[in-house]
Amino acid sequence: MSKPHWRPARTSDLAAISAIAARIHPALPERAEVLAEKMRFCPEGCGVLDTPQDIVGYGLAHPWMQRQIPPLDTFLHELPDRADCLYVHDVAVLPDFRGGVTRAYMAWLADMVSASGIATLALVSVYTTRPLWERLGFRAVTADAALRAKLASYGEGATYMLRGLAAT
Ligand SMILES: CC(C)(COP(=O)(O)OP(=O)(O)OC[C@H]1O[C@@H](n2cnc3c(N)ncnc32)[C@H](O)[C@@H]1OP(=O)(O)O)[C@@H](O)C(=O)NCCC(=O)NCCS
Repeated sequence: MSKPHWRPARTSDLAAISAIAARIHPALPERAEVLAEKMRFCPEGCGVLDTPQDIVGYGLAHPWMQRQIPPLDTFLHELPDRADCLYVHDVAVLPDFRGGVTRAYMAWLADMVSASGIATLALVSVYTTRPLWERLGFRAVTADAALRAKLASYGEGATYMLRGLAAT
């Protein structure tokens, strides 16, 4: 079987992305149209992990401002004029295909957005993924009251994290 690989997400992938999101994040539901808007706004940041049979994962990222966190299941409406980070909205991979693929997504992403001038990646770690993101070079940002309020829709233990885009 050929190895799963990351490629740009297409509109026709939306049903598969949405199905994986619903399966992996049952407690954090988002409408397909909300995910589609991110793909439309930043096609170079949105990828799927593809196999000859099926899509087995996705990563969605778009330009944003540091310490700003888009609420879940909410349209962005527009991207900021002076984005200073690439916000990784989500990476989700079906269990059988995990192991090395998020590290690969980060490298794919760095290539895809290398011309953008953005040098920082941001994300909200959910569940117990903080050590995984630390392993990939992200560092937790100490949350003040404003940041804590923005993290509220992401569930207990959500942590805002940053790293340099080129870090390995
Ligand atoms: C998060 C997710 C996409 C990671 O996929 P993955 O293929 O397991 O990721 P990788 O193997 O590339 O992991 C990256 C690194 O973290 C390490 N890692 C994995 N789990 C870890 C843990 N619990 N503690 C510390 N490091 C960990 C890996 O060993 C790897 O390091 P290495 O490349 O030096 O070996 C996958 O687990 C998933 O879909 N989870 C459910 C959805 C989710 O939580 N998404 C994240 C939302 S913030």
